[in-house]
Amino acid sequence: MDRLYPDLARVLLSEEQIQARVAQIAEQIDRDCAGVEELYLIGVLKGAFIFLADLARRLETPHTVDFMALSSYGKRGASSGAVRIVMDLREPIEGRYVILVEDILDTGQTLDYLYRTLQGRRPASLRTCVLLRKRREGVRVPIDYLGFEIPDVWVVGYGLDYAERFRTLPYIAELRTELYRGERR
Ligand code: PRP
Repeated sequence: MDRLYPDLARVLLSEEQIQARVAQIAEQIDRDCAGVEELYLIGVLKGAFIFLADLARRLETPHTVDFMALSSYGKRGASSGAVRIVMDLREPIEGRYVILVEDILDTGQTLDYLYRTLQGRRPASLRTCVLLRKRREGVRVPIDYLGFEIPDVWVVGYGLDYAERFRTLPYIAELRTELYRGERR
C-alpha cells in the first residue's frame, strides 16, 4: 500500500480483508436466498455505493439494485437526529425480497428509521446487510449480515467520507482524532 495520507492515523481494514469478507457475505446471502427469484437490493447513499457495487457483483441470486438518499438533522451535533427521505425508491417493494445495504451503523438511527419505514411497505422479507458496526451504545437494530465490528472512531474509505474526502480509497482507515473531535459521523 502507498504511504498513508497525513490525515489518516492507520489502516483498520485492508482491501484484501474487505474483499474477502464481501465475498463471504455474498455467499451467505446466496445460500439463504436459494429459490428466491429476485432480490431487491437497496443501497443508502452515499456511503453504501461501493459496498453495494462489490456485493451485487458477487451475488449469484438474481437481483435488482435501487438507492435511497436521506438527510439527518442533529447528527453532527447532539440534538434530535431526525431522519428524512430525500430520494425514495423507484418501485414499490410490497411482496418483494428486500435487502437493505448500509456501509456503517453508528448511532443506529438511520438504519432504524429505514427498517421501520420499509417494513411498513410490506415486503415479503426485509433483511439488513451492514459492512461496519461501531462498538458503542446506540439504537438496537437487527443486522442479518455484518461485515466487521470496529472501534468507535471516525473511519473513511470504501464509500465512507470525511467532508466528502477519502470515499474512494480501497481500504478503510481511521481518521486522526484531532480532525473530528466533538463531531460524530
Ligand atoms: C452515514 C452512513 C450511514 C449513517 C450511519 O451516512 O452512511 O447512513 O451515517 O449513522 P447512524 O447509525 O448514526 O445513523 P452520512 O450521514 O455520513 O451520509 P453519507 O453516506 O452520504 O456520507
